[in-house]
Amino acid sequence: MEKTIKSVQDLYDMLDADFRSAKQFWEPFYEDRNRTIPFFLNKPDENLVEHVNAGLLSGGKALELGCGPGRNALYLTRQGYQVDAYDLSETAIAWAKERAAEEQLDVHFECRSVFELTPEQEYDLVYDSGCLHHLLPHQRIPYIEMIHNALRPGGYFGMTCFAPGFGDIGGPEIVMNDWQVYQEKSMRGGLAFTEEKLRYMLEDGFECVEFRAMKAMEQHEPCFGVPFLWATLWRKKDS
Ligand SMILES: C[S@@+](CC[C@H](N)C(=O)[O-])C[C@H]1O[C@@H](n2cnc3c(N)ncnc32)[C@H](O)[C@@H]1O
Repeated sequence: MEKTIKSVQDLYDMLDADFRSAKQFWEPFYEDRNRTIPFFLNKPDENLVEHVNAGLLSGGKALELGCGPGRNALYLTRQGYQVDAYDLSETAIAWAKERAAEEQLDVHFECRSVFELTPEQEYDLVYDSGCLHHLLPHQRIPYIEMIHNALRPGGYFGMTCFAPGFGDIGGPEIVMNDWQVYQEKSMRGGLAFTEEKLRYMLEDGFECVEFRAMKAMEQHEPCFGVPFLWATLWRKKDS
């Protein structure tokens, strides 16, 4: 039968088909561990550390989405969380598992797309550092729904993503609106979000606990922080 759109999934598949495969991009990305990519260092996000130190995030079960080589999942495990962490890249997950073994940390790292996950009210914390801004606009619909389903009532969603206006120091050079992405058939390396847009995307299911720029951290400091990312924390609304 010819290609037919019957379900919302068919529609998503049609929209995906115009873009490069995320797996093909991310798989080789982690092959050379010596590249000077800031998030290759095994340091947790400064905002995550701040929220743990403040007692706002106080343990339980955590889910990390697009965990890369695992720096935040490893940190949460050291803080007593039981962590499940997923990434599309086999290479990144292999690296994360090596890091966990070196420290004798028990983390569930697995190579899976976030779109294969179907968690049900299991997690106290869902964390995403830099995954959402690499998802196509239509992919946010099932993604945000999955995060909402994953959290227990009152659970937290921590997320960092590109802020607009930092093209000269590492952020996206232009701010694309969602329609442009489909017109150009490209996200040009990642999408920047205005505060208004992020709040609009998340307001139905989440109340905002904190919305600020990530603090810039120096090389010698124990945390990761770059000023071109938003550092945000949300709490699942009671339904
Ligand atoms: C900018 S990197 C951030 C990695 C890690 N969170 C960190 O900050 O160190 C984005 C990550 O999202 C992952 N990713 C992108 N799309 C994904 C998907 N559909 N499912 C799982 N992981 C995905 C990529 O493989 C990549 O490792």
